[in-house]
Amino acid sequence: MHSEQQPENTDVIVRRGTDCEKWDGMAQVFGRDDLLPMWVADMDLPAPPQVVDALKNRAEHQVYGYTFRPDSYYQAFIDWNRQRHHWQISPECLSDAPGVIPAMALCIHTYTAPGDQILIQTPVYRPFFDVVTDNKRKLVTSPLVEDQGYYQMDYDDIAQKFAQGVRMMILCNPHNPVGRVWTADELKRLGELCLAYDVKIITDEIWADLVYPPHRYQPMAAINRDLANQTIALLAPSKTFNIAGLHNSIAVIHNKDWKKQYDQALKRAHLDFANIFSVVAFTAAYRFGGEWLDQLLGHLKSNCHQVTAALDGYGGIRIRPPEGTYLLWLDFRSLGLGQDLIIKALVEHGKLGLSDGRSFGREGDGYMRMNVGCPRSMVTEGIARIKESIAYLTEKAE
Ligand SMILES: Cc1ncc(COP(=O)(O)O)c(C=O)c1O
Repeated sequence: MHSEQQPENTDVIVRRGTDCEKWDGMAQVFGRDDLLPMWVADMDLPAPPQVVDALKNRAEHQVYGYTFRPDSYYQAFIDWNRQRHHWQISPECLSDAPGVIPAMALCIHTYTAPGDQILIQTPVYRPFFDVVTDNKRKLVTSPLVEDQGYYQMDYDDIAQKFAQGVRMMILCNPHNPVGRVWTADELKRLGELCLAYDVKIITDEIWADLVYPPHRYQPMAAINRDLANQTIALLAPSKTFNIAGLHNSIAVIHNKDWKKQYDQALKRAHLDFANIFSVVAFTAAYRFGGEWLDQLLGHLKSNCHQVTAALDGYGGIRIRPPEGTYLLWLDFRSLGLGQDLIIKALVEHGKLGLSDGRSFGREGDGYMRMNVGCPRSMVTEGIARIKESIAYLTEKAE
């Protein structure tokens, strides 16, 4: 990345008027369109210049006919994972997917039947709930255990629920919204339970690349051969390179029978197509985006730090810096005011749009999720708006 393209120096790019969910869609969610939106998980930052150039080149060709994903597309993903994560993936394990959540839905259809139990760990990204219930499977939740803002898995609870007949679990690694980057030991312990109870693991690793050292992303499928065979990993360049609107993702399936079933289902649903722009962006991002990502991570980490330094302890708010993601999980519980009042103050007084913690499950009551994937000036503004909201609430309470 050239110095003038560093996120720190990036002027705010006006996104209003581009039909983007975060800005143009805010009225639908918040009932007004004059908020600073720090909710939807994409970034108010430009994609890597190499991706932008590749897209421009492709657009200039002027012919946009049918395409397929060439070998170089898969190779870019394989090389990226070998170099950055020491994860060796062979091309035979790769399958296509039009998005991580659509692929999850396809897995649910392929490997389970209506009424089957599927476990998720809450609080978690809302579509994990919906993809299970929309497809008429039975949702089983295992709440993460929180201690001073640090979340861990509840293995006893998971084992107990697995013993009651769970067929599949959907893992979020790293975890949105609590910002944990699960360690190899944690994943191994969970994986052993999955093997013992023959629970299929669908692991959503869309946040894999947005991890702050010394924390390290551990692919579930790279722990050992047994777990590779028990796992379907879903990944995408969407979050890492801010190209979520191109809607493209990839599945890693080591188990040959499961891969065959998945590929057949993809074909049956006629979802085995490729979009030329997403293929071009995916390849350029994984091939050339490493240096850009390293700089982005520095920027995001300092955004997280800025918010934590300014707001942890402020008016009773608690925040712990995330190990990965650009999402902060703000704990307002000690204010004892109730979620509706906090949201009202943030929206009506602070003019700030954060994600309601309750959308991540009942354990999210009292929390708000703040997206700091944006230029520094927006983070500063977001902090000021939270402080104003708190001041307003405190005044009201007196
Ligand atoms: C954990 C997680 N999975 C999946 C997605 C969305 O993936 P896709 O747009 O490919 O369906 C998100 C977006 O925020 C996410 O946080």
